[in-house]
Amino acid sequence: MEILAIETSCDETSAAVVEDGACVLSNAIASQVEIHARYGGVVPEVASRQHLLAIVPVVAQAMTEAKVTWDDLDGVAVTMGPGLAGSLLVGINMAKALAFARNLPLIGVNHLEAHIYANWLVESGPAPAFPLVCLIVSGGHSNLVLMRGHGDYVLLGQTRDDAAGEAFDKAARMLSLGYPGGPAIEKAAVSGVASITLPRAWLKGSNDFSFSGVKTALLRLVEADQISNSADAAASFQEAVTDILVGKTVAVAKEYCVKQILLAGGVAANKRLRQRLREVSPFPVLIPPMVLCTDNAAMVAACGYYHFQTDRRDGLGLDVVPGLKLV
Ligand code: KG4
Ligand code: ZN
Repeated sequence: MEILAIETSCDETSAAVVEDGACVLSNAIASQVEIHARYGGVVPEVASRQHLLAIVPVVAQAMTEAKVTWDDLDGVAVTMGPGLAGSLLVGINMAKALAFARNLPLIGVNHLEAHIYANWLVESGPAPAFPLVCLIVSGGHSNLVLMRGHGDYVLLGQTRDDAAGEAFDKAARMLSLGYPGGPAIEKAAVSGVASITLPRAWLKGSNDFSFSGVKTALLRLVEADQISNSADAAASFQEAVTDILVGKTVAVAKEYCVKQILLAGGVAANKRLRQRLREVSPFPVLIPPMVLCTDNAAMVAACGYYHFQTDRRDGLGLDVVPGLKLV
């Protein structure tokens, strides 16, 4: 089954063609990072206009690179939320137009669920085994989820304040390291030592996360002019966030006796987090390749594939759901 998928929830315009939910035939991504970097963050109005400019060439590129014709496609999947309403609209409208013109079934996909399904994009080797625990860490969400089967989720923990990616972005801004903050902190941390003591909010008895304490502690040090080396500060911050994410994920995995741990979302591209989780976990750990961690349409196609296996179909009345939750 060949699915064309579209992703426009934030600042990446992406289209992909994926076969049988696993084999990526193409995954075209037009990033708006350079445009938003001028403003230090995503400007929603600018983002939707850029999606409008990029969507047709990106879909055309995905079709060309996949070497498929419109007749080869079996369905269209599109991100319906969560995300920026104006950005989501562009992708959904394009997906509807294609589904209508080619008489193809259409399915709306949850962006967070799509991040999880990036772990199914493995051409060789076994697919993830249930039950599993997945840590989804992105710019807007930090969710710890027990997955007992396809579409069967139990939310075990979530952030009480900033998402992990948001915390990275804010810390980078404090340290004047640029935007987007996650990759900037990671890059600076390479030449630093995690020598600054920063607090870890373990929230005993809860699987939730909180990053406001570590963020405020860093801010106090910056305000008091006590950061002499921003690389050390970046390394220390990265270590504190990684400790919490890894510690809580492994504890929950033990509690639920899972077969596997999955990592997903933009922050899963962080090398230190990937390395620590693999070092500490007594369970097999699956993490998508870097390009499939940050926003992309291949993961939307993988997720859409599993929905197409059920009887679920969304008609052309599909709407955006900017505040959509996973569970
Ligand atoms: O999943 P994603 O691409 O978009 C959303 O759905 O939000 O995640 C973006 C977030 C940003 O906060 C970005 O700073 C963070 O992921 N991120 C990283 C890295 N690459 C992206 N955080 C830490 N280390 C990275 N290498
Ligand atoms: Zn995302």
